[in-house]
Amino acid sequence: MVFAEDSAGEEFIFAMHISIGVLLAMLLLARIAARALIKPPELPEGFTALDKRMAHAGHLALYILPAVIITLGWAETDFGGHGVTLFGIPMPKLFPTMDTWMGIKLEDFTSENHEILAWTLLAVVVLHVAAAVKHRMAGHDVLYRMGIGKK
Ligand code: HEM
Repeated sequence: MVFAEDSAGEEFIFAMHISIGVLLAMLLLARIAARALIKPPELPEGFTALDKRMAHAGHLALYILPAVIITLGWAETDFGGHGVTLFGIPMPKLFPTMDTWMGIKLEDFTSENHEILAWTLLAVVVLHVAAAVKHRMAGHDVLYRMGIGKK
């Protein structure tokens, strides 16, 4: 870490991280609502059955992973009794302040899994971009489905 532990700089970075995470939570909820209301276009012709299964699994992961990461981050902050804030505005306390549950150290558990899943999400995003480039090079135009360019 660039800043010393418990320094003002570290506190600032954490507050920014949590606020941006809360903004992402709001965007994710808006995205889920839009996805439920608006049917996405079909996958392009030329996709094999395996391509379609991989695409659907990848898209599902891009919803589930951020939702779980954000929930774990929120839980860790609440378990520690710190309180989640959005640029200084207090957000609802979704989890109680508590140390352990059934012998599990809650802050350690949420912190470790938050980090592991954040790296997993990064890997899924990289694979997603690589798959989009691969399909584009194979002549399957997938970018218009993301609102980029025209069909
Ligand atoms: C998709 C959104 C998010 C991503 C990708 C993400 C990713 C990360 C990463 C990579 C770390 C560093 C882990 C480490 O080195 O220890 C971290 C730490 C942390 N995040 Fe998030 N985060 C997100 C959202 C949130 C939210 C919404 C909250 C709280 C409401 C939050 C709370 C925390 C806390 C408290 C830590 C410190 C963990 C520790 O070291 O104990 N995060 N996050």
